[in-house]
Amino acid sequence: MTTRVDVLLGAQWGDEGKGKVVDVITPGYSVIARFQGGPNAGHTLIFDGKKHVLHTIPSGIFREGVMNLVGNGVVIDPVIFLREVDALAKAGVDVRDRLLIGRRAHLILPTHRALDAASEADQGKEKIGSTLKGIGPTYMDKTGRNGFRIGDLERADMKDRYQVLVRKHERLLGLYNEAFDWKQHEAEWLDALERLKTYRFVDSEHWLDEQLNAGKKVLAEGAQGTLLDIDFGTYPFVTSSNTISAGACTGLGVAPSRIGRVIGIFKAYCTRVGSGPFPTELLEETGEQIRQAGREFGSTTGRPRRCGWLDLPALKYAVMINGVSELAMMKADVLSGMETIRVCTHYRVNGQLTDRLPYDITGTVEPVYTTVPGWGELSVNEALPNGLEAYIRTIEAATRVPVKLVSLGPDRAETLMREAAAATL
Ligand code: IMP
Repeated sequence: MTTRVDVLLGAQWGDEGKGKVVDVITPGYSVIARFQGGPNAGHTLIFDGKKHVLHTIPSGIFREGVMNLVGNGVVIDPVIFLREVDALAKAGVDVRDRLLIGRRAHLILPTHRALDAASEADQGKEKIGSTLKGIGPTYMDKTGRNGFRIGDLERADMKDRYQVLVRKHERLLGLYNEAFDWKQHEAEWLDALERLKTYRFVDSEHWLDEQLNAGKKVLAEGAQGTLLDIDFGTYPFVTSSNTISAGACTGLGVAPSRIGRVIGIFKAYCTRVGSGPFPTELLEETGEQIRQAGREFGSTTGRPRRCGWLDLPALKYAVMINGVSELAMMKADVLSGMETIRVCTHYRVNGQLTDRLPYDITGTVEPVYTTVPGWGELSVNEALPNGLEAYIRTIEAATRVPVKLVSLGPDRAETLMREAAAATL
């Protein structure tokens, strides 16, 4: 009996808490597969009082008997990958047994990182606020048909291919005013490459096909979020991959007809890191209050995240683009204790009220809010308070999708599975 691939992805601007949800639901799957992005991601998992942050390795790695796949759509920095491997070894996890890497995945070179930095420095105030992990330049080489892939590591002329690409990058770096000393990172990168070569590489599209045909359950784990998607996000302030559910097809080699559930993860409020439009952003005290209560600082870069109220037009857009079949709401506890909470239900654009996300949301969009009562402290051992239940029903009524999981804290254990009230859908 052949099975389908479920997809789990971010429905906002990233940092929704995808790592935690993957970790919680992994016992229901045999395979967890990352399909896009790279070490710009930071998936945080907390259990047994310990915090773990993953950048490249799928969040199923802590569960025994589960295979983790880094798919062809992912870009890999060997140095960062091996740092993760070493941290996991310290935590008692032998990655080698539980991890496969797709041969078609592309490698991030030290010169890609230098090009990322050079491009951002050159943009000045217009910069994207990239994580500077080399993501953009690596995907540019992929679509430019110059990329260096995992499968190339098995070729005899690997070193020559690397040199050709580096020479091209050196010419490009010469176009920028500022010089970036990438050479100091080369030796470490080449050493990491040698270690990386000892891991298991597969033709992951065939391997996944076999798993599905054998009835194995597969979960595709997204990185970043829908509004950072290269096509449908707030371009140009986006990442360089397809973060949406369609990205799971191209990033793993899975046909659209084989996609099953699509789980959209969102926070009870919104955050964004880096530059770009953010209609519901709170620039005053409440934003700071959320930042502190939610510890909203980047897990990859440590940058403070911008915070704001929940944006329903944006969430509805994410539901539409991804075909979200169920939602998971994170960080409800962060808003605990607030007397009232605001939710953006519509935008006013050129004097007109709309609940659609327009082409351009830079400064031209005025959020229209409704105010709802807040809620008190939350506990997994008690029913959700009325205020939070009403808040969730407002979201379900707007999106017409059930909220099936509610996260009440960062720990694996602080998670509640919820039966949606059919009447609201
Ligand atoms: P890049 O993907 O590093 O080039 O960054 C492009 C934009 O996406 C920047 O605004 C980053 O802050 C943002 N971004 C990239 N990865 C993540 C993520 O995992 N979470 C949140 N924002 C991200």
